[in-house]
Amino acid sequence: MALDKYERVWLTAVGGLIGSFMAALMVAYLIFDIRLPTFEGRIDPANLSNTKFANLGVKKLSENNYEVVMLAKMWSFDVGKDGGNPGAPPVVRIPKGSRVTFYVTSLDVTHGVYVEDHSINLEIVPGQIARQSIPFNRPGEFRIICNQYCGTAHQAMYGTIVVE
Ligand code: CUA
Repeated sequence: MALDKYERVWLTAVGGLIGSFMAALMVAYLIFDIRLPTFEGRIDPANLSNTKFANLGVKKLSENNYEVVMLAKMWSFDVGKDGGNPGAPPVVRIPKGSRVTFYVTSLDVTHGVYVEDHSINLEIVPGQIARQSIPFNRPGEFRIICNQYCGTAHQAMYGTIVVE
């Protein structure tokens, strides 16, 4: 079957485009270590005592592999005693080169989790657990920001991740 010249050109162009999108996905996954946010399950915000969120904080799972269990609420992030001064925005310390898996839920309204300069953007809906795992390869201080408007003091809802 003979293909028209223009049909061949367009088929090649479309094939090349799809191929380059697939390549970009593979590069993001394999080289930049990017993972998508995941719905981890449902939870009752009024009854967190028998859940993972009864023990907020930073847990070392293995070398360079950490877990951060965090509660979002009007208008702060809570990582328990691992966040430093109670009442102040939390400061989480992570060694450089670590992969950190965040587990976050909300106590009240919808919040967001965004970490400066990193590929994480979670929507924190009450009744749901959000999970995302990201690598921290560069030393520095990166703010954790609530990027969903959640009320009067939304702009005061932040924390810091110190990669050292
Ligand atoms: Cu929480 Cu905005």
